[in-house]
Amino acid sequence: MPDEFVVRSLDEVRFWSRIMKEHSLFLRLGFRCEDTQLINEALQFQGLFEDIERRAHEFTVNTDPQTIREFNSEVHNAATHIWAFKRKVLGLILQCKLPGATNFPLLVDHVSREANYFRNRLEELNSGTLEPLHDAIIDENVFFLKIMADHAKFIGHLLDPSERKLVEQAREFSQDFDTLMFQAIDLSSMRPQSQTIPLLSQFVDENRVSVESLRDFKKTARDLIEACRIKSIIHPLLADHVFREAERFLFILDMFERSLSGIKVNKREILF
Ligand SMILES: [Fe+2]
Ligand SMILES: [Fe+2]
Repeated sequence: MPDEFVVRSLDEVRFWSRIMKEHSLFLRLGFRCEDTQLINEALQFQGLFEDIERRAHEFTVNTDPQTIREFNSEVHNAATHIWAFKRKVLGLILQCKLPGATNFPLLVDHVSREANYFRNRLEELNSGTLEPLHDAIIDENVFFLKIMADHAKFIGHLLDPSERKLVEQAREFSQDFDTLMFQAIDLSSMRPQSQTIPLLSQFVDENRVSVESLRDFKKTARDLIEACRIKSIIHPLLADHVFREAERFLFILDMFERSLSGIKVNKREILF
């Protein structure tokens, strides 16, 4: 029987280390040629997370849990460092110290939030304190809905302005996800009274419908960019990256849906 802790740890590290590696590449591409120090730092992070990703694929579900626990804390340390690097870059941009660099402040903030999320997951895994389901459902949705809303905004701003139809669609997704995120924050504020099974399962269902359609839009955009059929300054890897993050959110929503439908309690009871 594979250890649940090992299975979940490997899944998180395999997914997020690739994401961190790609963030390093995107940040590097957005620096100016003269920012050699920042470019070198980004290159180091790219190599660091590439190595972590490779090692995460070498371990198996039968690896000793203690080995994975040590690996997790090493990765946690790397995630903390890349988070600090991203916040430093954000500070430089906001103080107008990198004029002409091409990473949006919201993008740098966004990738730092993803690093922080990764770091929290590793902490929870190692300390064995995963959030209870009814809290996880709200918190993961607040986090990922904002991530999805940001993605729609990045796509809208990095497409060529002459791609009017696609820019319009991206703007609609941005508004849709802003609204869903505020709904999630409302539900969060009504805790714990809002944590009933009917409310949570409606919340998950409604979000899933929108994430599926954003995922399809991203997939189309990715394919069009790869085939050079549309005008944009979106790196093909960035298009694929945001598509994979939508798939990740859907995977989490599916897990919530399965857990909710598996709970056999009076449906009007609050989930304490
Ligand atoms: Fe990302
Ligand atoms: Fe993202």
